[in-house]
Amino acid sequence: MTGLSTRLLCADRDVMNRVPDVVSPINVATTYRYPDNPDDFILAKDADPASLTTGRPLYSRLSHPNSSKCEAVLGDLLGGHAVVYNSGLSSFFAAITYYNPKTVAIGDGYHGVHGILDILSRNYGVKQVGLEELDKLSAGDMIHIETPENPYAKVHDLAYYVKKAHDVGAFVVCDSTFAPPPLQDPWEFGVDMVMHAGTKYFGGHSDLLAGVLVTKDSKVKTQLVNDRVFLGTNIANLESFLLLRSLRTYEMRIKRQSSSAEKIVNYLDVHRADYPALKVIHHSSLQKDDFVRRQMKGGHSPVFAIELESQEQAKNLPGKLNYFQHSTSLGGVESLIEWRALSDPHARLTLLRVSVGVEDPDDLIADLDQALKATK
Ligand SMILES: Cc1ncc(COP(=O)(O)O)c(C=O)c1O
Repeated sequence: MTGLSTRLLCADRDVMNRVPDVVSPINVATTYRYPDNPDDFILAKDADPASLTTGRPLYSRLSHPNSSKCEAVLGDLLGGHAVVYNSGLSSFFAAITYYNPKTVAIGDGYHGVHGILDILSRNYGVKQVGLEELDKLSAGDMIHIETPENPYAKVHDLAYYVKKAHDVGAFVVCDSTFAPPPLQDPWEFGVDMVMHAGTKYFGGHSDLLAGVLVTKDSKVKTQLVNDRVFLGTNIANLESFLLLRSLRTYEMRIKRQSSSAEKIVNYLDVHRADYPALKVIHHSSLQKDDFVRRQMKGGHSPVFAIELESQEQAKNLPGKLNYFQHSTSLGGVESLIEWRALSDPHARLTLLRVSVGVEDPDDLIADLDQALKATK
């Protein structure tokens, strides 16, 4: 099979190549002229809905050249039909709009997804249950499973949740943001839809917001694209250009970030005795369940979390670091650390989340080592 980086550079070659430029240009147009020849007009009522993202662009809320190119590359990368959105949360909203469940089972995970569910519960009475309450699901309901899960990079057993859901006719949406390809492949375990905050590893440079849903069924893609037209959540012009640029180098970045994170976590774990303030390290590489090895076949998440002994220590550690910037988010080429309570109202006050970038991992280890040793 053609290698991943080759596909990331070529999968959109035949999609809306309107100019000979090697790098697809940024399109600023929101609207596109109809054909000059009236014989080529297609009435809206006769248009093939499946061609909305591949045919001649009409209006950028429907699709535009770089959103279509992103979908071609992401579809290839993620093994299905991809639909892009203007944020990770927009993609979650699109998934729940599509499945329209009465009850959603959900664990911890990204707090913004809970924010959307709370709106749906308030307005439409959507019920929320925990991942240990799957007996409350029935046909048409949904499990939203984020794995590895924010902020601890905890891996959940996808095969287990898929079986439980499918036994009662419910659906499973997997938010795979923390372990994009080739780290894990949720399709192997039978999920119904895959979601990513493209803002993170696909964007990779902390300069764009994007989301993506992937389905194995082209009819589902057509419905999602039609819904997106009316939700108004297509990715914007500049962001799609940036996303396409980023996808070209994605394989190199994710492999380095994943292997660096594992190396750093292993170092901290082995040298725990040197860091009296360090109480817990959370990372998929330290999780012993059998399913972790089955699921994280291509490597571990580039995100890990640490808990320090006191709130004061957690608050002050970011300021002692030279290479990690104190900031929320993850997935970019620059390493970040976050005193998580600053952005997540539910986070423990002793928790720091770390997103490993592409710097030399030995420099990152030395930086964490000096900062942890200086934390008394
Ligand atoms: C796991 C996960 N899912 C979804 C999102 C939402 O993505 P966005 O910020 O692009 O809306 C985030 C954002 O941090 C995330 O970490």
